[in-house]
Parts: sequence; C-alpha cells; structure tokens
Amino acid sequence: MALPGPLNRYLLLMAQEHLEFRLPEIKSLLSLFGGQFISNQGTYGKSPFWILSIPSEEIARNLMKRTVCAKSIFELWGHGRSSEELYRSLRSYPVEKMVPFLHSDSTYKIKIHTFNKTLTQEEKVKRIDALEFLPFEGKVNLKKPQHIFSLLEDYGLDPNCIPENPHNVYFGRWIADGQRELIESYSVKKRHFIGNTSMDAGLSFIMANHGKVKENDIVFDPFVGTGGLLIASAHFGAYVYGTDIDYNTVHGLGKASRKNQKWRGPDENIRANLRQYGLEKYYLDVLVSDASKPSWRKGTYFDAIITDPPYGIRESTRRTGSQKEIPKGMEKCPESHVPVSLSYHLSDMFFDLLNFAAETLVLGGRLVYWLPVYTPEYIEEMVPSHPCLKLISNCEQKLSSHTSRRLITMEKVKKFENRDQSSHLPNDHSLLYQGHNSFREKYFSGVTKRIAKEEKSSQE
Ligand SMILES: C[S@@+](CC[C@H](N)C(=O)[O-])C[C@H]1O[C@@H](n2cnc3c(N)ncnc32)[C@H](O)[C@@H]1O
Repeated sequence: MALPGPLNRYLLLMAQEHLEFRLPEIKSLLSLFGGQFISNQGTYGKSPFWILSIPSEEIARNLMKRTVCAKSIFELWGHGRSSEELYRSLRSYPVEKMVPFLHSDSTYKIKIHTFNKTLTQEEKVKRIDALEFLPFEGKVNLKKPQHIFSLLEDYGLDPNCIPENPHNVYFGRWIADGQRELIESYSVKKRHFIGNTSMDAGLSFIMANHGKVKENDIVFDPFVGTGGLLIASAHFGAYVYGTDIDYNTVHGLGKASRKNQKWRGPDENIRANLRQYGLEKYYLDVLVSDASKPSWRKGTYFDAIITDPPYGIRESTRRTGSQKEIPKGMEKCPESHVPVSLSYHLSDMFFDLLNFAAETLVLGGRLVYWLPVYTPEYIEEMVPSHPCLKLISNCEQKLSSHTSRRLITMEKVKKFENRDQSSHLPNDHSLLYQGHNSFREKYFSGVTKRIAKEEKSSQE
C-alpha cells in the first residue's frame, strides 16, 4: 500500500522474540485505537526495524501503552541505505517539523542504537558530530533531556557475517517505549498462585493484545487453570471471569506446583493472584464447570474469549459424562454423581469452543486460543472454522522438532443463528483436524526420550 507521505512515518523498534506474533499484535492494536496498518515495507519477517504510517502521534503513544512486541517508537525524520543517503533524506525533511523540538530553550540528547554490531564510544561520537547540519539550537542534557533523538543502524540478522557498513540507517525523534517490562513484573516465577501450565506472562499479554481487550470489556477463559490469561486482560482494564473442570484448581487446593512446597497455601487462588497485582476489582468470579457443557443462558456476554485449552501433555483433556456414556462393563455411578474422567477429543473440544464463542461473543468480539499441532501432518486447512468467525491470524510457536502450538485469533463477524450450530460439522476442515486427536501420543513419539521422560515426570 502506498504511504500517504513522509510526514506521517514512524519507526518501530521490535523485540527479537516471538517473531510471528509481532505483526498481528501491532495490527490488532492499531485497529483498536482507530488506526490502520499502513506500510510499504515488503517483509516484517525477522527485522527489528519496521516503518509504518500512523495517523497521529496520539495513536502511536496508545499503541506503545499496550505492545509487548515492540520496544520503542520514533517519529522518523530520515532513512537511507547508507549514512549519505540518510543525510540527504534528513535534509529534505521539512524544517518546520523539526524546529518545535530543536529551539534554543529546549534540551536534548542523541542516542546511537545499533543492531548486530557494537560501536566504540569514539565511533558513536563521530556519528553524532556528523549530524551537526541539523538545526539543533537547544542545550545538550544527557540526564534529563526534553527531547531524545536516535540514530539507529541495522547491520542485518546474521551474527556470523556482520557487514562493514549498515544495511539501513534511521534517524528519528523518540516518542515512547512499549511494555516489555510487564514480562518481568508479571513473571510466573514471582506469582503467588501457579500451576504446571500457568501461561508465560509475555504470551499472556500478546494474547490479550491479539484479542483487542480494552477497558471495561468482559473477558472469559473457559479453561482458566490458575488464571494466567485473566491477569493480562485485567491489567488492560477488563473484568474477568473463568471456569475450569478441576475443583482443586478453582479452589486453590491440592498439591502445589512449586518445588519445596507440598500443598497449596490457604490463599493460593486466582483472586489472590489478581490482588497481588492490584487488579482485584476486575475479578468477577471463577466457577467449577465443564467447557463441553456450558451452562450459559442464550445471549452475547463476552467481548473476548482468551484461552489455553488442555491438550493432554501436562494436564488431561477430560469432560463430564452421563450415566448413559459409561462404557459397558464399568460400574454405574449413583444418580447424583457425574463422572469426570471421560476423555475429551481435541477435535470435539475445538468444535465446542468455536460454537461457544460464536454464540456468546458480542459482534466484533475475538476468540484467541492455542491449537496444538503435530507439524509433519499440519496443513492450514486443519484450523477449525465457523461461519460466524473470521480467522484473523494464525501464528506458530514451536514446542519440539515435531510439534508446535498455533495461536489462533478469530473475530465474530456474523450474528449466531441456530442453523450455525452444526453447519461446520460436515465441513472437511474439522474432520481434517481429527487426525490430531492423538496429539499426546505423537508428541511423546516425536521427541527424544529425555524430553519425554522430563515431561512425564512433571505430570506425576
Ligand atoms: C492448559 S491449562 C490452562 C492454564 C491456564 N491458562 C493458566 O494460566 O493456568 C488447561 C486447563 O483446562 C482444564 N480443563 C480440562 N478439561 C476441561 C473441561 N472439559 N472444561 C473446563 N476445563 C477443563 C484443566 O483442568 C486445566 O486447568
């Protein structure tokens, strides 16, 4: 797409982690704040430098209040494939756009940022001196400057082949940093209540961003576990609610997941986790309930459903049964007892999840979930579909040489009608996924004995 003009260009400095998740995060957040992803940069694959057009600085700032995939954003004043090209580009940048940040009673600082190369102090000073032609009139203040400018040099991605000169050079006015520090401050290591499958903090925030969670939203996790995903949504101001089939998890009872601790303490539960981060006011409730038999009255309740369903590696996939479903030869339970050990096929679980999301999400609401796949057999058509849900993104995270999980984001684009309930059943797509029902067996057959042994012992 063509750029509207050089004046609206911004440079995003992306983190070199979870590469596939970055573009959907930035696109989702821009659309949340009324912007659109516009860029003429060909690929975003692995480079940490992205040039985009953003309608206003306010949208750029809002984006940075949410992103965990981007480190910083700059108003781009110039860009070139060499220093000379950069200087030419800077000379053509309108002076009236620079002057408000360079006038005599302002303070400033210039920073040098290099990717894939380290410069000496002397080299850095040389680069700063070469920018003298810019109309800087303010005073340098290294400690607390009013304005920070950055020169960023890109030496490519290959640490074994670092070129003499950079592939790209950028200069811009720093606007804001992203939310990378959340990864540390919400780290599972320091969390009050955790389980074997508590979701990593960084990924939880990415999921909430893919889900376009915003203030006052209602976010639901039907496989809530220790509530890792609720925490990220609550941090962004959403009210959160969850269910889990496991009584002990919901009530914070039973064996602890931490080393050196046998049993969970009296206050180890999801509510206390939210309290730990000052987010208790966003806690609606958590309930023991089976996602295969949702107990909701018909209606649209949720702005987003963000979840990590079980896939039988560290936790079992199960659902409640009925007296009729108990296999022949097995002892029947008393009428009042609901057996909970019937296995829940992955394909049924995703089918139920999509139907549930189609029924209960508001229009425009998003479903974000992980789909485990056995990579040698994976094809895109296996991703479950639904007539009410549009696929927004599908990003891979490798788990082992043969397995991965894919973060699927879907948006509700059509009101749910009764005929939509089963309209995707005969669809070959969901049938295709049935091959993955034995994901657990394939997982353990595909990895080395050592990994399999580690995984098994962590489940015991
Ligand atoms: C991968 S874990 C979720 C972890 C969670 N995201 C966290 O941060 O702790 C999946 C959860 O699904 C629950 N589960 C399994 N089958 C279920 C079912 N039929 N209905 C509801 N929850 C179920 C398990 O008890 C487990 O806690």
